[in-house]
Amino acid sequence: MSELVEVKGKTKTTPTARNGPAAPRRLYVKSFGCQMNVYDSQRMADTLGPEGFVETTAPDDADLIILNTCHIREKAAEKVYSEIGRMRAFKQQAARQGRRVMLAVAGCVAQAEGEEILRRARGVDLVFGPQSYHRLPQLLRRAEHGAVIDTEFPVEDKFDHLAAPSAAATRRRGVSAFVTVQEGCDKFCTFCVVPYTRGVEVSRPVAKVVAEAARLAEAGVREITLIGQNVNAYHGEDSDGRPSSLGRLLHRLAAIPGIARLRYTTSHPRDMVSDADDSLIAAHRDLPQLMPQLHLPVQSGSDRILAAMNRRHSRADYLKVIERLRAVRPDIAFTSDFIVGFPGESEEDFADTLRLVAEVGYAGAFSFKYSPRPGTPAADMPQLPEDVKHERLQRLQREIDRHQVAFNARCRGRSFEVLFERPGRYPGQIVGRSPYLQPVQVQAPAAMIGEIRAVTVTEVAANSLFGDLVATAPPHAAAAASAGA
Ligand code: 5AD
Ligand code: SF4
Repeated sequence: MSELVEVKGKTKTTPTARNGPAAPRRLYVKSFGCQMNVYDSQRMADTLGPEGFVETTAPDDADLIILNTCHIREKAAEKVYSEIGRMRAFKQQAARQGRRVMLAVAGCVAQAEGEEILRRARGVDLVFGPQSYHRLPQLLRRAEHGAVIDTEFPVEDKFDHLAAPSAAATRRRGVSAFVTVQEGCDKFCTFCVVPYTRGVEVSRPVAKVVAEAARLAEAGVREITLIGQNVNAYHGEDSDGRPSSLGRLLHRLAAIPGIARLRYTTSHPRDMVSDADDSLIAAHRDLPQLMPQLHLPVQSGSDRILAAMNRRHSRADYLKVIERLRAVRPDIAFTSDFIVGFPGESEEDFADTLRLVAEVGYAGAFSFKYSPRPGTPAADMPQLPEDVKHERLQRLQREIDRHQVAFNARCRGRSFEVLFERPGRYPGQIVGRSPYLQPVQVQAPAAMIGEIRAVTVTEVAANSLFGDLVATAPPHAAAAASAGA
């Protein structure tokens, strides 16, 4: 509600001001894919706030619909076209009532397919890539006079031109927030579109990241997840003019009052360690705020396939990184991404992947069938049959599930710090996250949302834990003593 008032306040010079402020225009943004798209969608909403837009969760009620799309796999990209069709129906319905609705396609499909979207899908007014969303107000004005495409990689830093979220918007979004620190990728894994859709690796300067995190903390955020396509390749400029590592950045963020938890995702195994700088591994040892959970995609357990994927590390290199992290933080848990059915993957290669899952004992993982992406080198390699990919995916998922179930089962009877984030499904229940990101359901008053409390896990289900508040333990002491995996 207060958000609405704030936006109205900024628009009171519009022509209708004589009879009260202009009615706010309604914005519906739907995000597909990764967390960076979620973050980008929020920043788009922040940028459009001063233009008189307020967010709505109902597309049939919106004046502007933005689909923030993902191009990583074929399925995700194809979903966009059916979603455009669905949104076009709302647009046509509004037109029949004499109301103009603008339909925009943003994100990585927009970047990769550009004009193709306008050719394939009627009703789209605006197509813009991930590097253009700070120009959204101007683009919308231009789109009033005919369809507009903007997929340039501009020279200016979009972050310098984006509106910061208001304190009200930050509070509405909850106590856990994402902050983009790095974008793009220079690694060119042979299966991946990211270097083409998000462009070269760029890091934000330390001072800007710290300022954004401090603003979030002041508005009540307790947990910050630093995001980037290759977040641990971070090398943003520090106040001394030299590049900072992610480890150094984490130290700076840990010093911000109110920030109780830090995470970062997604990392490349090669960038966990460098000859010159071990500060990221050391941060896992030295910063209690840095949660003992790391998403470290490996994609395959076979050296042959890792080489064909151009991952630039071996299975042994990966295991060495895991070992070093466990040495400094014995309670750390790992999650990963896997691709099955990459071109040339033999049964033996796949067995290496299954063995790696068992060796690491992941707390969870995402796994995907290889999906050829236009313009990437692996798309031109001889492909495996669909049934082979399908069968391997089933086997891999069973193995991953087995380890996830075992990891969760080991949590029963232990006490963790839980950051409470929102009301639960049933009255009197609230839900938070364990240090390992598992949802934890507890009977507790809603006033506790935003707090970190020690919880003893009493029951374990497939995807969440149930627990009781620990009555007496001071929060920080309890988790430090018992968070071991
Ligand atoms: N096919 C299947 N999975 C892919 N990923 C990236 N590109 C492809 C592709 N072409 C997966 C990887 C990556 C995750 C985000 O998506 O596992 O880590
Ligand atoms: Fe894609 Fe590889 Fe870059 Fe990750 S490291 S974004 S998988 S090219």
